[in-house]
Amino acid sequence: MLPILIKYILAEKPQSQEVTISGWVRTKRDMKNLIFVEVNDGSCFAGIQCTFDKAVLPDAVIQSSLDSLTTGASVKIRGKLVSSPASGQNVEIAASSLVILGEAPAENVSGDKAELSIQAYPLQKKRHSLEFLREIAHLRPRTNTFGAVARLRSKMAFAIHRYFYERDFHLLHTPIITAGDCEGAGAMFQVTTLDLACAAKDIACKEADYSKDFFGKKTYLTVSGQLEAETYATAISRVYTFGPTFRAENSNTVRHLAEFWMVEPEMAFAQLEDDMSLAEDFLKHVINFALDECADELQFFDAHVEKGIIENLRQVACARFTHITYTDAVKELEKAAGTNKNLFEFQPKWGCDLQSEHEKFLTEKVASGPVIVTDYPKEIKAFYMKLNDDEKTVRAMDVLVPRLGEIIGGSQREDNLKKLTERMSALNLDPKDYYWYLDLRRYGTVPHAGFGLGFERLLQYVSGMANIRDVIPFPRAVGQAEF
Ligand code: 4AD
Ligand code: MG
Repeated sequence: MLPILIKYILAEKPQSQEVTISGWVRTKRDMKNLIFVEVNDGSCFAGIQCTFDKAVLPDAVIQSSLDSLTTGASVKIRGKLVSSPASGQNVEIAASSLVILGEAPAENVSGDKAELSIQAYPLQKKRHSLEFLREIAHLRPRTNTFGAVARLRSKMAFAIHRYFYERDFHLLHTPIITAGDCEGAGAMFQVTTLDLACAAKDIACKEADYSKDFFGKKTYLTVSGQLEAETYATAISRVYTFGPTFRAENSNTVRHLAEFWMVEPEMAFAQLEDDMSLAEDFLKHVINFALDECADELQFFDAHVEKGIIENLRQVACARFTHITYTDAVKELEKAAGTNKNLFEFQPKWGCDLQSEHEKFLTEKVASGPVIVTDYPKEIKAFYMKLNDDEKTVRAMDVLVPRLGEIIGGSQREDNLKKLTERMSALNLDPKDYYWYLDLRRYGTVPHAGFGLGFERLLQYVSGMANIRDVIPFPRAVGQAEF
């Protein structure tokens, strides 16, 4: 039988009932007659205090177990649930039995062989830097911060599924391995079973023969499930994907991962305005969910990670998102840059992508809140976005939020076969490679739109964690694929 989680025991009334808990020792204090042990099982922040009365316990139990009761050791403790005289906790366990399941030595232990030697448990009771914890990503979930991030991540994923479920969006599993580059950015990881070492030795071989590769062609890890999502949206009206996506961008920043999770809704019979409404409603909904259902975690983040984040999220949840076209946004940026030459490192210019400093300025100085920027120049956006009548801009929208910048990128899709193929030719994309995608425009084409939300960016936004590598269990980035 599974043990009762500590969060439920902490909520019980103390009536001297017998309880058994299992968890990991956080701290131990050895007083004259009593030993206090705090045990945590990660079900909530608080651990439960277990007190061992030396006068009551048999000597043997105390002696043999005391030395092993160190921070990190796993234990099973049985005793009576009684009210606690200590402040900050209602109940504690007057322990009567203790089983040490696994030790966690506080000092290095040398073994007969190298692999049997054990280094002192690295998570001693003190504050560790996030950088240090990133190096021990397999043990960091045992800290308060990463336990909280893990619970938040899981609950937010649930909130996302529930949001779409309740609105008749069907979950679609799009492929991880793909032959196409959805974003056209060329930042893809190749998937191959060809013997690369052999190919490298073959000096005469300029390009590997991909017809001999596993799939008979060049394939990659997907950067987005959007193109496949469009096929199902134009059949069952409303779908969403929520899965891992991969980008081989060489950007070593606090907002980029090589492997991240993306939520991508796609709607038939929808225009850019519908897309923006969905994005705003969706973001507010999941933020409200976090405020209601992850209150303990948010309080922790507010106290230890980003002061004022709860109030900030509350405001965002009831604010009206500012809408601005890319052209007007650039005008605002140019105006600001004109009065202060040192404001930006990169001078804003129509036709260039918005830099993070520009996004920051728009959200923090122009709008004081989330901003949806629309109608970007076609040159800086992907091939599938619907061309505006001006033939210069596309029906794109990015949702930018303070502290973070872009959290959502989306668009109305080009549903006109001729315009889409023209755009593809201009970008040297071979329409033959996209025949199935173009078929959606050949047969029963409809206006449709969707967006992608970076799940880790959302978690960063809600938790206030500064580095995206701290909101995914095992981050993958340039030069980093440990664990
Ligand atoms: O703006 P992006 O590239 O849009 C797409 O991929 C579209 N196909 C989405 C769609 O319309 N269905 O990416 C969408 C979002 C970004 O706004 C950002 O939040 C996140 O994905 N994102 C990343 N997150 C972490 N690391 C990276 N390298 C990311 N690249 C994009
Ligand atoms: Mg984008």
